[in-house]
Amino acid sequence: MIDRFLKNPEERPHQKADTAKSGNIPAHVAIIMDGNGRWAKERGMPRVAGHREGMKTINRIVEKAHLMGIKYITLYAFSTENWKRPKSEVEFLMRMPEKFITKELPSLMENNVKVQMMGSTDLLPAHTLKAVKKAIDDTAGNTGIVMNIAMNYGGRDELVRAVKALGEEVESGSIKAEDISEKDIKAKLFSSNLPDPDLLIRTSGEIRLSNFMLWQLAYSEFWFTDVLWPDFNGEHLEEAVKVFQERKRRYGGV
Ligand code: IPE
Ligand code: IPE
Ligand code: MG
Repeated sequence: MIDRFLKNPEERPHQKADTAKSGNIPAHVAIIMDGNGRWAKERGMPRVAGHREGMKTINRIVEKAHLMGIKYITLYAFSTENWKRPKSEVEFLMRMPEKFITKELPSLMENNVKVQMMGSTDLLPAHTLKAVKKAIDDTAGNTGIVMNIAMNYGGRDELVRAVKALGEEVESGSIKAEDISEKDIKAKLFSSNLPDPDLLIRTSGEIRLSNFMLWQLAYSEFWFTDVLWPDFNGEHLEEAVKVFQERKRRYGGV
């Protein structure tokens, strides 16, 4: 029901979107931006047309998130499993950071957005890395919302790397295995400088994590919508935050 209204906001019973309250805004929102391919397919277009349209959603949502007072937004852009896709689609996705930066860097600067990346740089083509690095460097002095892009990111890959890094420290004697704490593990994650997400959003109707932030989402609130990523807008984000504000987080307590 809710999803139907989200797809057709004009059908909403109250005419306009519910507005999130100003207090209790989630500090960190993580989004699995899914459904670009289906958006294109519905229109008889190639999958990459959906990615191109989905790129436009990013700026819209980061700007809205910033206005709402969200401090960190993590966006799942490419998973460690997405290499399985057709070569032409992977190549297109690897060109996205350049396209995004060429088009959106001025507005990122204007909105005081600080770009960060989360994921393994190992397999990324040099041109992709160069574009990501430029975005990070150019926005390094910005003090507004942090936009954390998950690129060649996998939650399991991240944990394997953390275990290896801690294993090396045990071998070198700088830490004892028995002393390893949650804090030590967090320190080895790509997102070590970010708080855990308060709210996870996944678009396109899929109800799964697809290897996203397995450690960090332990106590996050989840919100799913059938809306496809290219159609996702500020009203949907407001709706998600409003639902978040109605949730009771107990963290195992009473
Ligand atoms: C999300 O959209 C973008 C990426 C995973 C890069 P999809 O490309 O997964 O779109 P669907 O799920 O096939 O519709
Ligand atoms: C998850 O979406 C990855 C990103 C959004 C980048 P997928 O479309 O790759 O996930 P599955 O294959 O449906 O689980
Ligand atoms: Mg998908």
